[in-house]
Amino acid sequence: MATFPEYIAQNEERDGVRFSWNVWPSSRLEATRMVVPVAALFTPLKERPDLPPIQYEPVLCSRATCRAVLNPLCQVDYRAKLWACNFCYQRNQFPPSYAGISEVNQPAELLPQFSTIEYVVQRGPQMPLVFLYVVDTCMEDEDLQALKESLQMSLSLLPPTALVGLITFGRMVQVHELGCEGISKSYVFRGTKDLNAKQLQEMLGLTKPSATQGRGPQTAQQPLSNRFLQPVQKIDMNLTDLLGELQRDPWPVTQGKRPLRSLGVAMSIAVGLLECTFPNTGARIMTFIGGPATQGPGMVVGDELKTPIRSWHDIEKDNAKFMKKATKHYESLANRASTNGHIIDIYACALDQTGLLEMKCCANYTGGYMVMADSFNTSLFKQTFQRVFTKDVQGSFKMAFAATLEVKTSREIKVSGAIGPCVSLNAKGPCVSENEIGTGGTCQWKICGLDPSTTLALYFEVVNQHNAPIPQGGRGAIQFVTQYQHSSGQRRIRVTTTARNWADAQTQIQSIAASFDQEAAAILMARLAVYRAETEEGPDVLRWLDRQLIRLVRGPGLKPGSGLRGSETDFMFHLRRSPFLQVFNNSPDESSYYRHQFNRQDLTQALIMIQPVLYAYSFNGPPEPVLLDSSSILPDRILLMDTFFQILIYHGETVAQWRKAGYQDMPEYENFKHLLQAPVDDAQELLHTRFPMPRYIDTEHGGSQARFLLSKVNPSQTHNNMYAWGQVRPSP
Ligand SMILES: *[C@@H]1O[C@H](CO)[C@@H](O)[C@H](O)[C@H]1NC(C)=O
Ligand SMILES: *[C@@H]1O[C@H](CO)[C@@H](O)[C@H](O)[C@H]1NC(C)=O
Ligand SMILES: *[C@@H]1O[C@H](CO)[C@@H](O)[C@H](O)[C@H]1NC(C)=O
Ligand SMILES: [Zn+2]
Repeated sequence: MATFPEYIAQNEERDGVRFSWNVWPSSRLEATRMVVPVAALFTPLKERPDLPPIQYEPVLCSRATCRAVLNPLCQVDYRAKLWACNFCYQRNQFPPSYAGISEVNQPAELLPQFSTIEYVVQRGPQMPLVFLYVVDTCMEDEDLQALKESLQMSLSLLPPTALVGLITFGRMVQVHELGCEGISKSYVFRGTKDLNAKQLQEMLGLTKPSATQGRGPQTAQQPLSNRFLQPVQKIDMNLTDLLGELQRDPWPVTQGKRPLRSLGVAMSIAVGLLECTFPNTGARIMTFIGGPATQGPGMVVGDELKTPIRSWHDIEKDNAKFMKKATKHYESLANRASTNGHIIDIYACALDQTGLLEMKCCANYTGGYMVMADSFNTSLFKQTFQRVFTKDVQGSFKMAFAATLEVKTSREIKVSGAIGPCVSLNAKGPCVSENEIGTGGTCQWKICGLDPSTTLALYFEVVNQHNAPIPQGGRGAIQFVTQYQHSSGQRRIRVTTTARNWADAQTQIQSIAASFDQEAAAILMARLAVYRAETEEGPDVLRWLDRQLIRLVRGPGLKPGSGLRGSETDFMFHLRRSPFLQVFNNSPDESSYYRHQFNRQDLTQALIMIQPVLYAYSFNGPPEPVLLDSSSILPDRILLMDTFFQILIYHGETVAQWRKAGYQDMPEYENFKHLLQAPVDDAQELLHTRFPMPRYIDTEHGGSQARFLLSKVNPSQTHNNMYAWGQVRPSP
């Protein structure tokens, strides 16, 4: 029998699931006494190159309220050709195509190694991918030039059949007609007046794809496109030219003013255009902005430069004049886009805030990317944007579209909610708990955009009554059914079926405690804390967190000092002062950005975000991980810190002096040259793989950027004094 850590690693590898508990308390009462609920981090499209999709469709339980998918945990009667659903116990007949099955001739979905399996849906049309570029033109020439080059580059990465469109905006909004013969044509809209879908449809003369186009196989004569969205292969030359010719917004900007930027209307037109033409089809609206919206619906600041954009201080004082109205505007756009399965990405590149706080739901509700950089002419933006188009070994994009996730549970457990880049589909049913956590009251969520690292936190409630013991050996089961549009245009269904043992918390507390996954639990609690911080700003969240922590430290399964790269008190110390909960060192946009990333990344990345990783390089041996503590800073060491958002190399005092003196260039000090190079090489590897690309900082003792390191390492004494958990005597 594998140890729990091995078991946890195996399950994560195979199913993309990490549960807080791997043995579940068998009664509701006992479960509620545990601080950390039964919950899971689930990565729906975890990369499984060893898992070729199978070319038929899943077999479903015949009970209308269940419809669970046949899986390796089902009991099968090969002689009678029946299978019993492990969720509702319904006995089901196999479909006729399964007539040949036997103990020695089992379909893949019954084999234990296929607890995660992917099906290709054979029905329905191949859907085109749609990419709509929404481009701000109120920016410096250098930025605009760099952005244009990135956009042109991206055209070459799109599949030839993908449909593309272009909207540009400054004071006015222009929708560009593509593929018109000769001169380029565009429709111009005022940036001060919102348009609903119907108005837009009339003004642009849009038609919904006709019935034959929407369904049935597509024919070459009837490509799904319109004047504004055309196949790349047809217009890439012309669009490349068009992008090359883009100019800065021609309206003059007077001294002391911000440019008038109609971002709110531009996004509204983008959402409306896709809503009218490609409802329920995978599509990305990619928005590139160089500053805040300054007019019309969605404006976040006025055009007077002397009035700065809202700060946390203004928000606290209820002095952020445009915030509520703007947020409402973007929320309604986000809801419309997600209803139609459309993704909204935001690339905000500016030195000041651009309104990510108000716009965050656009990316969050739709599974879109949010990227923040100082300028479009930075490798942070350029490389990150290029990485969006990464392909897998089969040559397909790693991005997936228009997904839904459904959770099915066995009778003793129900789902309370999800936290992550998703919206509720309001699907009621026997699996739905009345106690909501996160986005709850449903067993289905929509995730318009997801990639192999997109991770949802799902919270469950044990509902089995104390006086209804579960038979010895009984297992609780959860099935995750993810339906999505693969970037090849296929519809696919990925099914993951997991089960865990039940145990009586009164007699078997040890086995429950031993099954505790500290890392998963820490991130699941952190997501909950960040969720609360988003919804109820203020000191209450920290107080709540502290109460949970104190209970955690006393609770089952948590012995102080038992791991998690330092003790769990260390981890919670870092969470407490992380940018995810502490807002006052950051702008509102930065807080929104950090939280957005934290809410969608997988466990490993989330752990790094909360408790940065620190490596030391010295002549005393190979690089080694060291404590994130000021005592780790030594004169003869180089440190490499990874905070997820930043990769920082810090040269200790002596090392910095040697470097200044140029020892690395003298042949007799070649080992010093290697010492300097080692962290740079390791940093490059991180820079090349991470999404979004981190900020790279090279600094040294006394350097101005050393503050980024110093703000993360905890001053040794203060920490110990502040967090003497053992002395806390809370009331229960
Ligand atoms: C972008 O930045 C690089 C390096 O800082 C500079 O050489 C280049 O000219 C800039 N690009 C534009 C379009 O200004
Ligand atoms: C592309 O541009 C050329 C030259 O302006 C024009 O003749 C041609 O019709 C355009 N093609 C499409 C598909 O728009
Ligand atoms: C994202 O949206 C969900 C609701 O769909 C919400 O629960 C969550 O707090 C949001 N997260 C962020 C970081 O805004
Ligand atoms: Zn069933």
